Amino acid sequence: MKVHDILIVGAGLAGMRAAIAAHSHLAHLDIALLSKVHPVRSHSVAAQGGINAALGENDSWEAHAFDTTKGGLYLGDQDAIEAMCREASGDILDLERMGVIFSRDEKGRIAQRPFGGAGFPRTCYAADRTGHAILHAMYEQLLKRRIFVYEEWYVTSLIVEEGVCRGVVAWDLLHGGLHAIGAKAVILATGGSGRVFLTSTNAVINTGDGMALAYQAGAPLEDMEFVQFHPTTLKDTGILITEGARGEGGYLLNTLGERFMKTYAPEQMELATRSTVSLAIGQEILEGRGVDGCVLLDLRHLGRARILERLPQIRELSVEFAGVDPIESPIPVRPGAHYQMGGVRTNQWGETELPGLYAAGECACVSVHGANRLGGNSLLETIVFGRRAGRRAAEYAAAKVPRALSDATLRTEETRIRTLMGNKGPERAWQIREELGKIMSLNLGIFRTQKSMTEAGEKVRELKARASHVWLHDRGKIFNTDLIQALELQALLEIAETILAGALAREESRGAHYRSDFPRRDDANWLKHTLAYRTTEGASLKYAPVTITRFQPK
Ligand code: FUM
Repeated sequence: MKVHDILIVGAGLAGMRAAIAAHSHLAHLDIALLSKVHPVRSHSVAAQGGINAALGENDSWEAHAFDTTKGGLYLGDQDAIEAMCREASGDILDLERMGVIFSRDEKGRIAQRPFGGAGFPRTCYAADRTGHAILHAMYEQLLKRRIFVYEEWYVTSLIVEEGVCRGVVAWDLLHGGLHAIGAKAVILATGGSGRVFLTSTNAVINTGDGMALAYQAGAPLEDMEFVQFHPTTLKDTGILITEGARGEGGYLLNTLGERFMKTYAPEQMELATRSTVSLAIGQEILEGRGVDGCVLLDLRHLGRARILERLPQIRELSVEFAGVDPIESPIPVRPGAHYQMGGVRTNQWGETELPGLYAAGECACVSVHGANRLGGNSLLETIVFGRRAGRRAAEYAAAKVPRALSDATLRTEETRIRTLMGNKGPERAWQIREELGKIMSLNLGIFRTQKSMTEAGEKVRELKARASHVWLHDRGKIFNTDLIQALELQALLEIAETILAGALAREESRGAHYRSDFPRRDDANWLKHTLAYRTTEGASLKYAPVTITRFQPK
């Protein structure tokens, strides 16, 4: 059996940043990454608008921390928010030294654009392909350090012995077969779970695998009811149309041609926080002022040159996928699931409640986003907390002596795969996944009620039972994507269960969690984190206090 000092699951920005940090800190360690896709196909590549840091002369990390806390409706832990905002500018400079090609202002400095909920233009960007620019620079750093990557491997289970995480069991997609891989420390950096919903900006690979692995191993998932709906995703496909478009001056219009944000956020207008803009769009559509289930994002007044320089990708996406050229016509957009604010509960150093297990990036909940993430803070989170988790895991692994592993988890997983392969069906995994997505989008979208969620809960329980019998067309070993889809489905259903449990219990509205039957924020009873633990009966909830340092809830 192969044994590493550190094994990182997921090779997007958080995972690669963790690997580079661990290597820079203790270069003698044996560090490996494992990913179900090639690293540069990780979903971080799709991040468009930018990454926040208080670089401006009149800006400060304290102002960034305040905006983040307020934008998150005071549910974020302020010690973690302070760490992120304080360290942001150093991290941006490190990225620049690694070779990230940030856009520049007229003085040659890293350019920054306004983003929603921010009191200052502090979002650094590379046109509208920021994730692409950072991910590729990071991958070069990985290659330079010769860090080994298990490319196209899928983790089916964590190995936990005597209450400590000691590695993973993973399926090798290319050759087929399960393998146990030992590690003194495992870092989960598997990204989000947006594909629980049908309409999502997320890649089809974003199935919450890492969150489900931790949950199954007994670690709690925190604040899972807080799913961010990005206000502007492209009609039909749900492809992200960056907030940078509004940051550059784009307007939102209803069918009457009105800039309707003046009713909902007269000062911030299109640059109010995401939950406010998404709710406003939802309300316009609900009250019949939408355009074919959407509203319109108008960029025409920005002019051709600016659109081509700052927003080339969204122009291309609009032309290719909606047949609309934003230079000439407004883009039809509507809210779509975008980001999971919750995730595996960690402290500021990525440590989970399970010794030996770390988490960073979207799959983790540190928690810095609270009830509503500010745009541009997610790329920042991957970099700051990926680096921190890598460093802490390196120290942990360096102090550990290697020990032999039993093959018990491997045997259990072999039985699981054999059972899946032998299922008689008749249903297929994709059918259940589609049903799940529809139910979650319909019943747990931007508006939620006890009735809609109770109905969804019953349906998800039924889907869970059906999912264990799905039929695989492909019973072979080599590149069996049918098998991976069946495993992903099981993760998606676990995640849906935690979202539902947290959302049904939380009888208030806060940020992305809007309950039409409890429309007010209720700090007296609900200024607290939800923790979901897995039991055989489903998610069992506990609550934990929010850390408040300098900003009292208002
Ligand atoms: O709109 C965007 O470009 C998305 C940014 C983010 O989610 O941070």
